Amino acid sequence: MGISKEQLIAEIERRRTFAIISHPDAGKTTLTEKLLLYGGAIHMAGSVKARKAAKYATSDWMEIEKQRGISVTSSVMQFNYKNYCINILDTPGHQDFSEDTYRTLVAADSAVMLIDGAKGVEAQTIKLFHVCKMRGIPIFTFINKMDRASKDPFALMQEIEEVLGIQSCPINWPIGTDGDFKGVYNRKLKQIELFTSDNKHGQAIVGSTRGSVDDPVFKDLLGEHYHSRLVDEIELLDVAGDNFDLRKVLKGELTPIFFGSAITNFGVEPFLEEFLQMSPPPGPQAFNDKTVEPESEDFSGFIFKIQANMNPNHRDRLAFMRICSGVFERNMQVYHSSSGKMIRLSQPQQLMAQERELVEVAYPGDIVGLFDPGIFRIGDALSTSGNLTFSGIPSFPAEFFARVTAKDTMKRKQFLKGLTQLSEEGAIQIYKQPDIGIEEFIIGAVGVLQFEVLEYRLKNEYNVDLRLTHLNYRHARWITETPCDPHDLNKTSTTMIVKDMHDNYVLLFENEWSIQWVLDRNKGLVLRDIS
Ligand code: G4P
Repeated sequence: MGISKEQLIAEIERRRTFAIISHPDAGKTTLTEKLLLYGGAIHMAGSVKARKAAKYATSDWMEIEKQRGISVTSSVMQFNYKNYCINILDTPGHQDFSEDTYRTLVAADSAVMLIDGAKGVEAQTIKLFHVCKMRGIPIFTFINKMDRASKDPFALMQEIEEVLGIQSCPINWPIGTDGDFKGVYNRKLKQIELFTSDNKHGQAIVGSTRGSVDDPVFKDLLGEHYHSRLVDEIELLDVAGDNFDLRKVLKGELTPIFFGSAITNFGVEPFLEEFLQMSPPPGPQAFNDKTVEPESEDFSGFIFKIQANMNPNHRDRLAFMRICSGVFERNMQVYHSSSGKMIRLSQPQQLMAQERELVEVAYPGDIVGLFDPGIFRIGDALSTSGNLTFSGIPSFPAEFFARVTAKDTMKRKQFLKGLTQLSEEGAIQIYKQPDIGIEEFIIGAVGVLQFEVLEYRLKNEYNVDLRLTHLNYRHARWITETPCDPHDLNKTSTTMIVKDMHDNYVLLFENEWSIQWVLDRNKGLVLRDIS
């Protein structure tokens, strides 16, 4: 290792690796852009947006990416803010929502949950939230678009607590939520931060005027109505709300809430400052047989995402590795868990949209894209100590299912190879019906676009035409305990029993009602929605 232990610890301490989870249109692109702006990573707001727009442009290359369901937007954005080094992990959303979106969260040390103040907690946020909750990572809530009319802030808190099952504690409190936004009251600093819109659509950093809540200047500024309402609401919060408790935040049991408006920059920098102070740096990582401390001398990391054919001119894949311990150096030799061999990491890259930059050195919390000639699998461990394996990446519940066969039965071999490849990349999940031969599979996917990706790639890369029949199933449940042989379970006529690729029994259901029906009639049956 070329640096001292103290230097390594300092590099770890200043790192924050997080993902922003939200429903489409809540303002993730806008918020990301503003964070980058404060970090000086971009000089003009609008560049992330431009990339987002470019995603829908139709140059040939983009078209292919689009058809393959591959997000062209940057996968990881690294920038410095003050002494911090920040890694924002992009979670693909919208129509290319897939298992990758979930898996990315496994590489994050914390999450920012972005909510549109007028819409509240939406479907995609709920799904992503549950993955964060399962991992027990801290979740910070930013309620956006407060410059417009929003839901009542108490109702929003209640929604977060009831729908997501997490306690919440507002760090600031909005003043004027009917489209008459005046600013926020900062509960920690006990001061009012006035909303000043510069009408520049947030292209410049906006400063706020501050002062104490009792200051008569603010009563004058806010007016009697807003001021007295604020005083009442703050009193109610102080009495009835959950107290701030950093230990609970770090365990993912309590989410600090910040109100703001990303587009006008309002509340973004105060949020960033608080977030950086409260959120954890990279911590110990559990591998199968041992827990690795980030400051360990041994390098370790795991692969959480594989992106195929980013550039059709080189049929390469990129494997994304999260660094867990030690120092990463280009050309280092590491032990690769799934092949059991030593390999050299010679072309590591950091990605910022389409720009790739060669990485010479990286630290715990950083994400490195590794050139993949086809050897990496999701969940591979890479280490210099030689004996690490990792099984920390769960499979996520598919919500769409289809039956597939190859139109030409002579192409069975390519068909199998293609399916296996896509399942290794994690784009699809493969199930088989126990009594049906290997010509036919049930495919599960997290997003419906994955079926198009499957058809397109099997045709283009394996020359196999698929016969694909969509099925009505919406839920997969793994059997973890059963009172009898799974085939003898009392099931509804539409419930299907299949096995996953590891020979585990899985039940496919059309709706929640049938899940409950089966559970009610088979005492002792335990089902899980994640493998
Ligand atoms: P996403 O990545 O989560 O999908 O959301 P994105 O940032 O693209 O924002 C979605 C829309 O919400 C955009 O409007 C954006 O300008 C708007 N928006 C984001 N933050 C705020 C905010 O704090 N206040 C208000 N009022 N609007 C906000 P659009 O009409 O789709 O795009 P554009 O016309 O602004 O380019």
